[in-house]
Amino acid sequence: MSKLLITGRQRLSGEVCVQGAKNSALPVLAATLLTKGENVIFNCPSLSDVDASCEILRYLGCEATRSDQTLLIRCDGVARTDIPDSLMRKTRSSIVFLGAVLARTGRARLSFPGGCEIGPRPIDMHLKALRALGADIREQHGVLDCRAPYGLRGAKISLSFPSVGATEDIMIAAALASGTTTISNAAREPEICDLADYLNKCGARIDGAGEGVIYIEGVSSLHGAAHSIIPDRIVAATLMSCAAVTGSELTLRGAVSRHLGAVIPVFEESGCRVTVSEQGIRISAPRRLRSMRLVRTMPYPGFPTDAQAPLTAAACTADGTTVFIENIFENRYRHIAELTRMGASIRTEGKVAVVEGVPALYGASVEATDLRGAAALVTAALCAEGTSAVSGVRYLERGYENFDIVLRSLGADIRKV
Ligand code: UD1
Repeated sequence: MSKLLITGRQRLSGEVCVQGAKNSALPVLAATLLTKGENVIFNCPSLSDVDASCEILRYLGCEATRSDQTLLIRCDGVARTDIPDSLMRKTRSSIVFLGAVLARTGRARLSFPGGCEIGPRPIDMHLKALRALGADIREQHGVLDCRAPYGLRGAKISLSFPSVGATEDIMIAAALASGTTTISNAAREPEICDLADYLNKCGARIDGAGEGVIYIEGVSSLHGAAHSIIPDRIVAATLMSCAAVTGSELTLRGAVSRHLGAVIPVFEESGCRVTVSEQGIRISAPRRLRSMRLVRTMPYPGFPTDAQAPLTAAACTADGTTVFIENIFENRYRHIAELTRMGASIRTEGKVAVVEGVPALYGASVEATDLRGAAALVTAALCAEGTSAVSGVRYLERGYENFDIVLRSLGADIRKV
């Protein structure tokens, strides 16, 4: 099992190209299942979660090959309708394959998905919506058996919460349904727009992505398309946190400022200077950050829950108290106990974490137990005095491509052992 050894207090500098968004790549890969002909997916990050989606596609009978950041996918002969438990457990987002397999074959048999332990992650909204589209779904012993022998049909669906995964699952399932589907209270994340852009290039008719109501007029078939995945806004926010804790100046090439509308002001509040240009974002951090006061995670366009963990790490050494309120997932403070081992002063109660800035963190052996928590520990180690050993690197590798190499190229003292 690998660890990251990080000796903190090195200033970072330079320029980095922000990788493609994991959370866009995963639903787009599931959506390729609806198509016939070749798909060329550019800017697709090399991550274990992406590999898991490719494995599912291959298991189902599709071709999926990688050449650098490009994936070539062909789903002409979908030969199976089941996904084994071992593949479903590799990533939470495997659940978007439910709508895709069902829409393509009229049948789907798969188990409940895996993913990071960041609280209960039910799939009730996915199931309710697919039932509204005409699927007959039986749940037995952790296996979902879904049938739509005569195809799915459009429906009016209103989500009780703007779930990202449920919105994607419905968009994918409804793209080949007969008639029109409307999703009210839909998620508005940039990744939803990216999925709609991809599907529309394939011949789908999706309107309103990025707004509260999405309209999907079903079509009878979809063809393959070339599509470039958007830059990862959470990786950008994590790199901004790394710059902020080390008093550094970094240029994030490709970062899209309008995707970071709730994130940039928080860094500015803490005293960082953020300059936006067509090429990306430049962040220049002061020697010591000011507290960010209050950070509330919300569905997009609010502050993203995925950026909360790296930001708590940045708040640890800021001057003053920062209060975090985590509104999306329970259990998203698992990195906090590890941060306190490094000398952070943090109290949590339910969805609230109160971070009182301390003058310095100290290197320690810490263990990540989820993806964004891992990013928080790396961020903290970058500013800690002495050397930290961060284990649980496999979580980091679910979402950050060669993060150790990227940080080393910017001047960090980090190596994987
Ligand atoms: C996606 C992202 C994840 C991000 C999250 C919120 C991917 C691959 N993952 O996860 O990185 O943290 O959005 O921005 O894109 N819920 C239900 N029932 C459901 C579905 C969701 O109760 O059927 C709840 C969840 O438990 C959670 C909230 O809704 O409390 C948000 O979940 P959702 O938006 O669905 O997140 P994911 O799609 O799993």
